[in-house]
Amino acid sequence: PKVAVLMGGISAEREVSLSSGRECAAALRSEGFEVIEVDCGRDLAMRLSEISPDVCFNALHGPLGEDGAVQGLLEWMGIPYTHSGVLASALAMDKIRTKEIYRREGLPVVESLQAGKAEVVAGHVMEPPYVVKPYNEGSSVGVYLVTDGTNGPPQLAETMPEIVMVEAFAPGRELTTTVLGDRALSVTDIITDGWYDYDAKYKPGGSRHVVPAEIPQNIFETCLGFAERAHRALGCRGISRTDFRWDESRGRDGLILLETNTQPGMTPTSLTPEQGESVGISFGQMCRHLVEDASC
Ligand code: DAL
Ligand code: MG
Repeated sequence: PKVAVLMGGISAEREVSLSSGRECAAALRSEGFEVIEVDCGRDLAMRLSEISPDVCFNALHGPLGEDGAVQGLLEWMGIPYTHSGVLASALAMDKIRTKEIYRREGLPVVESLQAGKAEVVAGHVMEPPYVVKPYNEGSSVGVYLVTDGTNGPPQLAETMPEIVMVEAFAPGRELTTTVLGDRALSVTDIITDGWYDYDAKYKPGGSRHVVPAEIPQNIFETCLGFAERAHRALGCRGISRTDFRWDESRGRDGLILLETNTQPGMTPTSLTPEQGESVGISFGQMCRHLVEDASC
């Protein structure tokens, strides 16, 4: 079959997506697929009509690629595509709604609120320390950490959306679990010097990943179970990666879910391919599985 790998796009995570897309395209070629790499612009529908692929492999990240928009276009065009469908993508991309679903499912989260940008800039809307983030971006783009109340509220960049999410800062270790198909693969412990921000995520050596995480068995298994439940509750398909924070001083009560990514990064420094390898699933097999699981 002819596979179009959709990458790039027009979100703040464009560069991340180009990297994910190149990796996935190379892996699919090694698996014997005919692959066309498509750097997605506003003319995507026209390009796809010309290419007429059997399947679209979605390697886009961020708004329009991860939020249900491109998924809707592919539904409309009748082209089977990988990863989650319209609704799950839209829900998971919205961190505020994701949390509502987690809460309903009984999955632990920290206190958070939705606020207007002007309100957040005018004064503390929550007792520090807290985090301000766009409700719909990935890769830590536009994330502000307010540690100390005396510094005043954060000065948010122009590019921040009008509605932001303010979340109590959850201290602790950064853990993550990928679900492939409907099975959680493993838990990775992400070790950074400071914040696991954009540079720590994508610069080689920016962070160290311990997989399988060296954490107590009950925490490990809880992460696997929570990630599978989050995947199901949001209605994800194919693959997802749920991110956690774990305050080990509080035991199992210190484990909370941050978010579920329906388009987990597939770059050379990304967590998901590494987690697959650690349980004996090669990157090629992972990409093949997604293509075989594609639908519309
Ligand atoms: N938003 C990036 C790509 C991730 O979740 O891996
Ligand atoms: Mg994310």
